[in-house]
Amino acid sequence: MVASRSQLTSWQRLQKQAQGLKNTHLKHLFAADASRFDKLSLAIPGVLFDYSKQLIDVQVRDTLVELAEQCDLAQWRDKMFAGDKINFTEQRAVLHTALRNPGNVAIDVDGINVVEQVHKELAKVAAFVDKVRSGQWRGYSDKAIRDVVSIGVGGSNLGPQMATEALASYADDTLNIHYVSNVDGVQIAQVLKQLNPETTLFVVSSKTFTTSETMTNAATAVRWLKEAAKDDGAVAKHFVAVSTNLQKTAAFGIADENVFTMWDWVGGRFSMWSAIGLPIALYLGFDAFSELLAGAFEIDEHFREAPLNANIPVLMGLLSVWNTSFLDHRAQVILPYDQALHMLPAYLQQGEMESNGKAVNFAGEPVPYTTVPLIWGMTGINGQHAFYQYLHQGTTIVPADFIASVEPQTEVDGHHHVLMSNFFAQSEAMMNGVDAEQVRADLLQKGVSEQQIEELIPHKLHQGNRPTTSIILDKLDARALGRLIALYEHKIFVQGIILQICSFDQWGVELGKGLAKNIESELRAQSVGEHDSSTQGLMAYYLNKRR
Ligand code: F6P
Repeated sequence: MVASRSQLTSWQRLQKQAQGLKNTHLKHLFAADASRFDKLSLAIPGVLFDYSKQLIDVQVRDTLVELAEQCDLAQWRDKMFAGDKINFTEQRAVLHTALRNPGNVAIDVDGINVVEQVHKELAKVAAFVDKVRSGQWRGYSDKAIRDVVSIGVGGSNLGPQMATEALASYADDTLNIHYVSNVDGVQIAQVLKQLNPETTLFVVSSKTFTTSETMTNAATAVRWLKEAAKDDGAVAKHFVAVSTNLQKTAAFGIADENVFTMWDWVGGRFSMWSAIGLPIALYLGFDAFSELLAGAFEIDEHFREAPLNANIPVLMGLLSVWNTSFLDHRAQVILPYDQALHMLPAYLQQGEMESNGKAVNFAGEPVPYTTVPLIWGMTGINGQHAFYQYLHQGTTIVPADFIASVEPQTEVDGHHHVLMSNFFAQSEAMMNGVDAEQVRADLLQKGVSEQQIEELIPHKLHQGNRPTTSIILDKLDARALGRLIALYEHKIFVQGIILQICSFDQWGVELGKGLAKNIESELRAQSVGEHDSSTQGLMAYYLNKRR
């Protein structure tokens, strides 16, 4: 038995405060306090974080911080940075922060200084990137590499792909990058048909090197290459791997010197800072990759050093707990006003939902509160023309994170003000809403009849009071992206500690994987085994049609 968070005095006070604030409108909180923005926003180099449009007040913020103190958040944070095995269920350290720490202070895991390992591997990545980008690395017909195909899924895909999309404006034309994550053959077929095998390099990224989707795609890529090269030796010149599993990479035919290592203390969804980020470094150059790491390191330092009430990731995590576990908002939407961040919602979906989408505490007991929300989203502008109707007038309140930059990556006359006017307008609208008097005044002015006005009022009312956070970066470059992602990573850590969730395992994805393996054998043998009648019926239907 562990003491439940719900027994803590701060938790109980928050429950009462939530009851009080549920009957309060955000616009009244703003009207009552002209300095609300100053009190509930903070800026650190390159980032403005405004949480004044969240349904809280200074007392709630302070009680949330007290909750963090009562949960020993600072001590847990320090254990993570020190390499303690805080991933209890797998007996592993959690050290993605070591991947971006430029210092030389040793961190010991099982008697090994991981800092030394990290720096050694980074140097290997840098040398390899240089060789490929400079054209020294040659393919089987002695041509330089032009295209890189990254094969991987989940944490071995989303980070690199999200980051290369986010920073594509800074890429030179040395290399093209492609991603294959889905085992649906349509994806790899479409990628391969554009490519010349003589000038293509495959990076097979898989922490375990057992993930069936990745292994299937990699095997297809090998066949494609061998067919063109008519030489099995070509594999060594066109395939490298990123993995912890050297036995499997060797069995696959990749020489050890072409394998970039990661370690079991790097969780898949936190791994883009490791050699898993190789596609980022290949596409943008190693300097840009170093900038990404430097941005994340700045946030690591902020997370370690800033007082809890002025600590952005701490506040992000606490606000999420407040919205979900106290105000019962069960979804959260991520809205980047930046086309380059179009993959950010998908990336954060894995980060938060795979980490904290769980229902038992550290001791394995059911938690008596709702844990983390469903995370979804898309670029804000496109979302406006798709699902914002639901956000403004739906029956479910969905707290939102708005993300934008002061400077656009690409200045096109007049565009950025249009984009940013929407960024500012939407969170203002979600907060204020529109009441009946405003609707009436507007329609009267347009000459609408009294009767029509009365009919239209309920349809045009916006309750407002929708909580939002706004994050404004200076400009989305590699350093800024590193900062942004590290903020969310630490937010996820904070949520886990407050909610007593083991954030670093993912047993929930294993069940389906195991079942799929058995079913795959049945499909290959064209025989339906022991299943419930629905699964049997579906499989039989499929097999009959495939005959
Ligand atoms: O989807 C589950 C998962 O284990 C993720 O956590 C991980 O990022 C992904 O699969 C890929 O795993 P691997 O890198 O071992 O191929």
